[in-house]
Amino acid sequence: MNDLTGKLAFVTGSSRGIGRATGLKLAQLGAKVIFHGTQPGEKLLSAVAEAGNNAEYLTADFGNMDAVLALADTLKARALVPDILVLNASVQSYTGLANFDNAEFLRMFTTNVQSSCILLHELLPEMRKKNGGRVIFVGSINGIQPASRLAIYGSTKAALMNIAQTAALENAPYGLTVNTILPGVIETDRNAKALSDQAFADKLKEQIPMHRFGTSEECAELIAFLASDAAAYITGAEIPIAGGWQL
Ligand SMILES: NC(=O)c1ccc[n+]([C@@H]2O[C@H](COP(=O)([O-])OP(=O)(O)OC[C@H]3O[C@@H](n4cnc5c(N)ncnc54)[C@H](OP(=O)(O)O)[C@@H]3O)[C@@H](O)[C@H]2O)c1
Repeated sequence: MNDLTGKLAFVTGSSRGIGRATGLKLAQLGAKVIFHGTQPGEKLLSAVAEAGNNAEYLTADFGNMDAVLALADTLKARALVPDILVLNASVQSYTGLANFDNAEFLRMFTTNVQSSCILLHELLPEMRKKNGGRVIFVGSINGIQPASRLAIYGSTKAALMNIAQTAALENAPYGLTVNTILPGVIETDRNAKALSDQAFADKLKEQIPMHRFGTSEECAELIAFLASDAAAYITGAEIPIAGGWQL
């Protein structure tokens, strides 16, 4: 049921971390995968090489809406409109509300939220024509749970959840599903520095019912399931993958 042979997947932010593991998993299941990152280079080349199946990569800075539009134009012009769209790229910074920074607010909302809306606007009309399209958002537990200094990042993820639910509603008649995964603490580059503080990492693990962090590969397995025919009747779902941290 999880065979993705003949499917085309576009995974944003797949030069590393959860996105890379997802691209590799989808490729392993037979999909052709288009990887994405901000810059060309070794990270993307190695992902493409490891994936095989004619994988390729594209680059765009999602903080720049002209670049996002150009990326969508490239996908359409090259007949690379995906069957499976994984909206995973994001930026995150720790900003206390007392030190509110307008430029950082705009950077996070533009990169995390506006870019996804533009990609949906540009790609959904074509994706609807495909049989059983899939959109999978990579949200965050921070979208449903407050965390100190993460109000702005968390609110971008909360906004995406509303967008995903609306997209699920609007696209259900086309057999196109839209779901969101909500990772907890997943060991990636993003939090490597913070988690290298052993005392901090141990304290965090204590708060997580399963007392461990998650892996990119575990997130990729869930995304691959949501991308498959086995998940054809699941839409508008928000699924924590957080070792019970949301409880
Ligand atoms: N790790 C966690 O604990 C955790 C928890 C909850 C939710 N999440 C969510 O899971 C997703 C992946 O997280 P991760 O930890 O795998 O992230 P990561 O290791 O920091 O990788 C981020 C990816 O996004 C791309 N990216 C960064 N800035 C970008 C920009 N301005 N425009 C376009 N792409 C950009 C990066 O490309 P470059 O390599 O070119 O910079 C990279 O491919 C994110 O949406 C994150 O919010 C992660």
